[in-house]
Amino acid sequence: MDDLERLAAAVRRGDTVVAFTGAGISAPSGVPTFRGDDGVWDEFDEGQFAYGRFQRDPEGFWRDRVELQRLLFDEEYDPNAAHEALAAMGRDGDLEAILTQNTDGLHGEAAAAVGDGAAEGNADGGTVPETTVLELHGNSQRVRCTDCGTRRDGDPIVERAAAGELPPTCDCGGVFKPDVVLFGERLPGAVIQRARSLARESDVFLAIGTSLVVEPAASLPRLAASTGGTVGIVNLESTPCDDVADIVSREDVTDALPRLRDLVVE
Ligand code: APR
Repeated sequence: MDDLERLAAAVRRGDTVVAFTGAGISAPSGVPTFRGDDGVWDEFDEGQFAYGRFQRDPEGFWRDRVELQRLLFDEEYDPNAAHEALAAMGRDGDLEAILTQNTDGLHGEAAAAVGDGAAEGNADGGTVPETTVLELHGNSQRVRCTDCGTRRDGDPIVERAAAGELPPTCDCGGVFKPDVVLFGERLPGAVIQRARSLARESDVFLAIGTSLVVEPAASLPRLAASTGGTVGIVNLESTPCDDVADIVSREDVTDALPRLRDLVVE
C-alpha cells in the first residue's frame, strides 16, 4: 500500500474525518501562498495588516489593504480539483468538516457546486450530508462594521477605498474592517473551540496545503494525534507537525486529493 492507499483505508474505517486546509490548497487556483516561493509575505510586511495597525491607523491600513486584496482576490479565482475532491468526499458522507485558514471562500464555492450537482441526491438517493466549512480566519470577500457589526460584500467597499475613501465607513459612521482575523487579533472563542473539539473527535485528521506555523490552528494536528486520531499531511514542504503524522504525502494537492477520494469510494 502506498501512503494515499493507507490514508484512504483510514478514511474508510473512520467515522469522523476532518480536513484542515491552508493556502496551498488554493495555490493551484492561482491564489498566492503566504510563505515559500513568491509568498505574499515576501512582498508585503505582515505588520502592515496587523490588528494594532488597523486600530492605530485605519487610513494607512486600508491604503495597503487595497493593494493586498488586488493581489489576493482581484482575479476571479475558481475552486480547483483539490477543493472539488473534498466537496465530493463531503457529499459522499466521508467528511465531517472542512476547517480552513483560507479566506478566499473557495471551499464554500466548491461545496455549493457539489451541492447543486447532488440535487439529484447521492448514490443511494439519500439527502446530501451537510459538510461543515469552518473559516477559522474569516472571509476576505466580506467586510464588517466595527461599530454596528453589519456585514457587507467586500468588493464595493474595497473599490470605495481604492477610489480614496480611506478608511471606508458604514452608514452608521463606523469604520469597516475586512471580515478576517488580523494578526494580533484573537480568533472568536467559539470558532477555535469548535475546531478543537472537531480535532479531538476526529478519527482521521487531514492537514492539507498548510505550513502549520500559525497558532492556534497549527496545534490541531497534535490535538488530533493526542486523542488517537490518524493524522495525514498532504504538503509539498515539511511542516513542524510531520513528527505526529501517521502518513505524510509530498504530492501536489490536485493530484493527491482526487486520488484519495477515488481510493475511498473504490
Ligand atoms: N500542493 C501541496 N502543497 C502546496 C501546494 C500544492 N499545490 N502549493 C503550496 N503548498 C504548500 C507549501 O509548501 C506551504 O507549506 O502549502 C503551504 C502553504 O503554507 P503558507 O503559505 O504558510 O499558508 P498557510 O499555512 O495557510 O498560512 C497560515 O498564515 O499568514 C497567515 O492568515 C495567514 O491563513 C494564513 C496563515
